[in-house]
Amino acid sequence: MKKSVLITGGAGFIGSHVVRLFVNKYPDYRIINLDCLTYAGNLENLSDIEDKPNYVFSKVDINDTQRLEQVFNDYQITDVIHLAAESHVDRSISDPLSFVKTNVMGTVNLLNAAKNFWKDLPNHLFYHVSTDEVYGSLDHGGYFTEHTPYDPQSPYSASKAASDHFVRAYANTYGLRMVISNCSNNYGPNQFPEKLIPLCIHNIKEGKALPVYGKGENVRDWLYVEDHARAIDLVFHKGKKGETYNIGGFNEWKNIDIVKLICQIMDRKMGKEDGESAKLITFVKDRAGHDLRYAIDAAKINSELAWSPVQTFESGIEKTVNWYLENEAWLSGVTSGDYLKYYQQHYG
Ligand code: NAD
Ligand code: DAU
Repeated sequence: MKKSVLITGGAGFIGSHVVRLFVNKYPDYRIINLDCLTYAGNLENLSDIEDKPNYVFSKVDINDTQRLEQVFNDYQITDVIHLAAESHVDRSISDPLSFVKTNVMGTVNLLNAAKNFWKDLPNHLFYHVSTDEVYGSLDHGGYFTEHTPYDPQSPYSASKAASDHFVRAYANTYGLRMVISNCSNNYGPNQFPEKLIPLCIHNIKEGKALPVYGKGENVRDWLYVEDHARAIDLVFHKGKKGETYNIGGFNEWKNIDIVKLICQIMDRKMGKEDGESAKLITFVKDRAGHDLRYAIDAAKINSELAWSPVQTFESGIEKTVNWYLENEAWLSGVTSGDYLKYYQQHYG
């Protein structure tokens, strides 16, 4: 094995795309997917690669020090790509502590395990996958660059900012070789239908209301998830150690415009009359502390690592809607809770 790469959170949305890319592209790497399978972890996301010889799944919580040490030892881990996290802003508003436990304490626990195991290993890499939300909220102009000061506004973004700081502190204090990337909003197959885009697709299918927070004027910068996974591959292999890379789609949309676009696509795909789905749009109470706008300046990764998104928003959103319509079993499994049985049935 050339490398033995521990990917945390690999059963989640972005993690599953990263695991698939690495397992298929690097048959001479051993890929260890470490995930404790919270509500957001779904091993069915990886059913197509679970029998590959270079893939291993390990059901472990990143807060479990002993089990982490065992995994580092058993698989002689050479590198970490850390995606495991609590990821949903609304949940962080109702339960901030669980975000501190996983995103802050879990990350520090993982950093300790890596630091201790890698004492004598010169070429390790700890790659921390983070979010543009650490930079706070933009007004109508400007972009987040790698030099934008941190100004997190939600419990979720505060926990991710803290985890970024700990990764840098471990590099400075203990010489950990690390890299961090901060990405904008992802969308695509396998996203849990609590997030805006899959929620709208699901609710239109079910004829349920489409809840738009406030006036729907908030702006997000959307990136197709496979483009993010390609960026992670590049940063992992070619990124300069100790550096940060911002990743984004140069693709800003107001929430209300995204919701209307999904309505139009769904009308067409479901053979409904034009405007039918849009009748489901319902303006609801705004999210507390709702950040107005995120927009990433991705010039650094573009110029230094020659990365740019492959999908346009038009092609990406079309692919995404198609995927959810063609994968009804995945969506109904997730909404009914049946997906939680997958681990027991396939690994138990
Ligand atoms: P997700 O919620 O879909 O998946 C998170 C995964 O982490 C799940 O499989 C879950 O079971 C696992 N997990 C949670 N707590 C764990 C613990 N204590 N131990 C082990 N595993 C645990 O998240 P996502 O949207 O795929 O995001 C992945 C990462 O990317 C997160 O770090 C997130 O902050 C970051 N990110 C997400 C986006 C986005 O738009 N979704 C954008 C930028 C950055
Ligand atoms: O910017 C990157 C971040 O993007 C990631 O770090 C987070 O993990 C990820 O969840 C995402 O955060 P957001 O809060 O931007 O995503 P969400 O899909 O929850 O919401 C997108 C926008 O849509 C946001 O402005 C809130 C709004 N919204 C969301 C939901 C769920 C609604 O109007 N109605 C909804 O029902």
